[in-house]
Amino acid sequence: MSLSAAIEGSSHFTVRTSQFALHSSHFTVRTSQFALRTSHSNSLRNPSQSSPVPILEELETPTPIVDLDRLERNLDRMANYAKQHDLALRPHIKTHKSPMLAAEQLRRGAIGLTCATSAEVEVMSAVGKDILMAYPAIGRTKLKRLMNVSSETRLTVALDSAEAIEQIAAAAAEHDRPVSILVEIDLGMHRVGVPSAERAIDLVRLVRARPPLEYAGITFYPGHIRQPVGGQDESLAELSTALGNVLAEFEQAKLRPRIVSGGSTPTAHRTHEIGGVTEFRPGTYIFNDRTTYEIGACQQEDVALTVLATVISTAVAGQAVIDAGSKALGREPLRAQGGGGFGVLAEHPEVIVKSMSEEHGILELNGSDWRPAVGDRVRVIPNHVCIVVHLNDVVHGVRDGVVETSWPVAARGR
Ligand SMILES: Cc1ncc(COP(=O)(O)O)c(C=O)c1O
Repeated sequence: MSLSAAIEGSSHFTVRTSQFALHSSHFTVRTSQFALRTSHSNSLRNPSQSSPVPILEELETPTPIVDLDRLERNLDRMANYAKQHDLALRPHIKTHKSPMLAAEQLRRGAIGLTCATSAEVEVMSAVGKDILMAYPAIGRTKLKRLMNVSSETRLTVALDSAEAIEQIAAAAAEHDRPVSILVEIDLGMHRVGVPSAERAIDLVRLVRARPPLEYAGITFYPGHIRQPVGGQDESLAELSTALGNVLAEFEQAKLRPRIVSGGSTPTAHRTHEIGGVTEFRPGTYIFNDRTTYEIGACQQEDVALTVLATVISTAVAGQAVIDAGSKALGREPLRAQGGGGFGVLAEHPEVIVKSMSEEHGILELNGSDWRPAVGDRVRVIPNHVCIVVHLNDVVHGVRDGVVETSWPVAARGR
């Protein structure tokens, strides 16, 4: 069903309820010009959405719901951190895939956006005029899509090979379009990135020889640092030393990078400890998830997105079954220490989703006094929120127990 059809289909819901206490009681400050409160204005409102919005109890499950107060708080916290440490915030939109939320990040001071795919760049160019594709753009189709993004959007691409430079240089020349380049260096993640400053400098020289490409700087991703935030000292010190050595070699080669881009959610609030970083790219922080709070990069009450699900069976002793299986939660392991399973219940954190089939999530009840009835609704905190968003067409924004708005996952599947 299309989004507008889904929304129209829900327009017969007229009663609102505040039975669900999603409101985080200790958070009372609301920025006056904040645009997520859709009953008054504004940017979060889906233009095709008719009023009244669906009520929470009648949302068909499984479905992702976002606590808007928590979302605001997460956005503000990261924006404030960036300001406090004079770091440029360039959030990764892979987590939400929504231009509307990207606009909220920009409105709070983000200097630009980060994307992983050329199709995400295409979608986000509706709101972002400065976009980094933190991923090598390889292949004619991807490059064509990228080059066709409105010329009002300044493009930067990360890469780590001469082949990537060759391809993007040819595409940029064909379209007569300047593209800024960040050369990716591997500082411990061992995913992409050249292993030494020397190799990176070679690539920078190639970039500089190929206008309309422009050498803008270097990038790395500290995704290997997943220890609890308080236990990251050693890894951050190593990272800082490695980056310092790279920067010294760049200095010697008279190729000082204008941009040094790094950052992730687990390390976000310690970015200022990594000497030389000028901008950071956290993504998950906007919603947070079980992994994020197990790492200690947020509190459990900072988790904004949960999957609303219904108990559909209690027939087998010691367990209950919900309608959220792998197609709703993703089969993502917890990427931190703290227990197994594929998610945990928000209201009963001792209960995990211990196993799944596509439409069934099996809740482990041994270890909990809670005994649900068929028809009860629960909220699951997923292990990895980015995957959950990607599995859905629509996300619902909830405040004070009321579905205030719904938005499409516009870059979904792209
Ligand atoms: C290159 C890059 N930068 C930034 C991020 C954002 O990191 P996080 O999801 O921890 O916020 C990611 C996430 O996968 C990434 O791949």
